Amino acid sequence: MCNPHLLSNVATNDAHGENSPYFDGWKAYDDNPYHPINKPHGVIQMGLAENQLCFDLIEDWMRRNPQASICTSQGLSNFKEIALYQDYHGLPSFTKAVAEFMEQIRGGRAKFDPNRIVMSGGATGANELIAFCLADPGEAFLLPTPYYPGFDRDVKWRTGVELIPVHCKYSNDFRLSIGDLEAAYNGAQERNIKVKGVLVASPSNPLGTVLDEATLIELLEFSTQKQVHLVCDEIYSATVFFSDKRFISVAEILQKYPGRFDQTLVHIVYSLSKDLGLPGFRVGIIYSYNDIVVKSGRRMSSFGLVSTQTQHLLACLLADKVFVAKFLEESRARLKARFTTLTKGLERVGIHCLKGGGGLFCWMNLRPLLQEATVEEELRIWRRIVHEVRLNVSPGSSFHCTEPGWFRVCFANMDEATMATALHRIKSFLPTMAPRRRRPEIGLVLSASRTMEEMKDQGKHMLDFHPLSSPHSPLLKATS
Ligand SMILES: Cc1ncc(COP(=O)(O)O)c(C=O)c1O
Repeated sequence: MCNPHLLSNVATNDAHGENSPYFDGWKAYDDNPYHPINKPHGVIQMGLAENQLCFDLIEDWMRRNPQASICTSQGLSNFKEIALYQDYHGLPSFTKAVAEFMEQIRGGRAKFDPNRIVMSGGATGANELIAFCLADPGEAFLLPTPYYPGFDRDVKWRTGVELIPVHCKYSNDFRLSIGDLEAAYNGAQERNIKVKGVLVASPSNPLGTVLDEATLIELLEFSTQKQVHLVCDEIYSATVFFSDKRFISVAEILQKYPGRFDQTLVHIVYSLSKDLGLPGFRVGIIYSYNDIVVKSGRRMSSFGLVSTQTQHLLACLLADKVFVAKFLEESRARLKARFTTLTKGLERVGIHCLKGGGGLFCWMNLRPLLQEATVEEELRIWRRIVHEVRLNVSPGSSFHCTEPGWFRVCFANMDEATMATALHRIKSFLPTMAPRRRRPEIGLVLSASRTMEEMKDQGKHMLDFHPLSSPHSPLLKATS
């Protein structure tokens, strides 16, 4: 039996945050994974933000471009050069191609200098690396909730850096309020915690929402005024599929208002895991406007470089601008179609989702199913969904959401038939999930004593009965 006390505290402590339902759901799936023929009653994986919708396009490109791989007879002549040691600046062809790809995604509204790119093992490595560069143990980053659970592992675990949540609310469509950011900053100061920066993800995981220009400007003003860093995780930048929700990069704002903000405090985290759907390649980058961060980040990147074989292949692929343009357009169209299938299917049984517009998931509102607005009750519903409905969705509490009853549902990691099965299961099980009480409590934002009439007067965020959604549906309709 191995004695954990013989190991380091860092390796054995729980700060990785992986003891949460977010990861437990994956275990349920691993034990009994759905397969249409071999395991038709297995668990369907809807807890994994993977983008598998455009694999055919990439595979087709690979077939047409065998020279891009050093492992084919057409590409073998590059084998030796690529297989030998490279410096940690990255292959020039790769950094140039990534910079241009980032420009292409942003419609040419932001320029990127390949010399400012620092490589890492996925955005996971990039987030840790930037935390190492910007903060010492005990210092903190502010970040809006709900947030990607991996941030606890990536930013905190090995660095000793703290994360201070800034709670966003449904009543404000989970938008970040700069007043709340200020309050969190002041609260940290009162507790003698040094705030080194703000971390935001746009599009957000799990919300799928994007930061608008006004909020980005406020964030840049906050960062400049307080002299704290602004880290923008933009790894879902090419997944924004609704034209009225255009993705706006922080890079675009810096370029639009030259000299207005202290750009040496701004750093973008990016990866090819979501936009290209290649998480197994572990391609992550930091794009920093700060020379010292670029320099020290590159030194640190020796621990997590992207293999040159991968760099070489992707440099060839991304340099094909015509392919990339078509890929981006098709990818957005397929994501939009899938999001629409899922959300419309859910609406038919009275379940509503936040109107996101980006990402590989939707943020599903099951608050009307709760008997009381508690995390325990959310987890009870979640366990039934995992074990009875056999869908691995992720409960909002694992994203540090303070309003129980929200769930993240991933939709891009499966085929259409599996999605149809998932929707069918939800429809069949919903009636069995009705809360025992006749009039359910609606989350924390509304007090139980309010009448339905009062709720209906709440305007845009009101909740009203939706009796026609399904004759059996216990759900209330929530418009957002
Ligand atoms: C917001 C966010 N950042 C970072 C990551 C990690 O990405 P990667 O696979 O590139 O390490 C994820 C993965 O889901 C994510 O959602």
